[in-house]
Amino acid sequence: MNWLSDNVNQLALLGAAVILILTIGVAAKYFKAIKEGKSEGELKKENWDGIGEYKNNSPIGWSLAFVGTIIWGVWYWFVGYPLNAYSQIGEYNKEVANHAAKFESKWKNPTKDDLLGMGEGIYLVQCSSCHGIDATGIEGKAQDLTKRVLKKTVLAVIKNGSAALGDKVMDGVGRFGYQMGEMPPGLVSGADAEAVAEYVSNGFKGNEKGAQVFATVCASCHGADGRGMNGMAPNLREYDDKIIHAVLEHGKEGVIGKMPSFKGRLTAVQQKAVATYIRSLSE
Ligand code: HEC
Ligand code: HEC
Repeated sequence: MNWLSDNVNQLALLGAAVILILTIGVAAKYFKAIKEGKSEGELKKENWDGIGEYKNNSPIGWSLAFVGTIIWGVWYWFVGYPLNAYSQIGEYNKEVANHAAKFESKWKNPTKDDLLGMGEGIYLVQCSSCHGIDATGIEGKAQDLTKRVLKKTVLAVIKNGSAALGDKVMDGVGRFGYQMGEMPPGLVSGADAEAVAEYVSNGFKGNEKGAQVFATVCASCHGADGRGMNGMAPNLREYDDKIIHAVLEHGKEGVIGKMPSFKGRLTAVQQKAVATYIRSLSE
């Protein structure tokens, strides 16, 4: 950015020029007055040892400058600074945004190893306090990230529905939430719910009846393979980039507990990195 496009800098430059011109002008005037001027006018009554003072009005220029300064001060306080233009908070936010942009462009084409390394670092610092160093969720207090969904989560979602993961509007990194919107509660119940929860939480294996229920009830949104049909609904087989993004963006409150939102705290490539790392845990 050009420094002259900052309006505070423009004002400072203008001020400096005005002061310089006034100083030269006033100095020239008084040099001239010292050489040529003769004093005249009405003297005030008081005098000290014969030295008196003329009755003069305050100079027009001085009065104008005085009033002008007050007007400028009011303008400066309420309009010019800091409400509209430069502020330290604005500068800080700008620097953070610049840094994030630099970071993103540095890691434009990361290799899988780059992502794994970055993801592990982020995971250990930001996520392991709840999810555990080994990611198994510290005695059930957070999601076990070596498994995609737990049976109790599937049962609770079937009972209560799910609404908080995605939103239908475009989000900050230009991706959409889940296009199916919300999942309604009560699609199945009883033994069918048990069976499908068993099947889904077991990685889509083993439960004949569950597989049937999934195919007839759940597959229309989550896809026959459970991978969510390219973002129509969440991928229930693995932590793809989209579910990680959704959870980081919105946080999550479910049967296990409450995870806070990380909105604005991880850049797009950092989110991708942590997703890559979490996927690697169950490979
Ligand atoms: C009408 C479409 C639809 C159907 C049918 C449907 N789901 Fe969903 N499901 C969704 C959507 C959309 C979400 C995410 C909604 C949100 O939270 O924003 C979701 C979320 C979930 C989640 C939560 C995932 C997570 O990581 O928290 C689970 C588990 C789930 N569905 C399982 C099932 C099962 C099992 C069935 C069948 C009994 C099923 N769904 C049927 C649309 C559907
Ligand atoms: C304050 C504790 C806490 C922190 C910190 C935390 N989580 Fe969570 N996380 C949870 C809890 C609790 C759940 C389970 C929510 C539920 O009941 O479904 C969860 C769930 C998840 C899920 C499963 C979402 C789903 O739909 O199945 C993922 C993925 C996840 N966290 C990733 C992360 C990542 C990545 C980080 C670090 C950037 C992180 N979490 C930091 C508490 C936390």
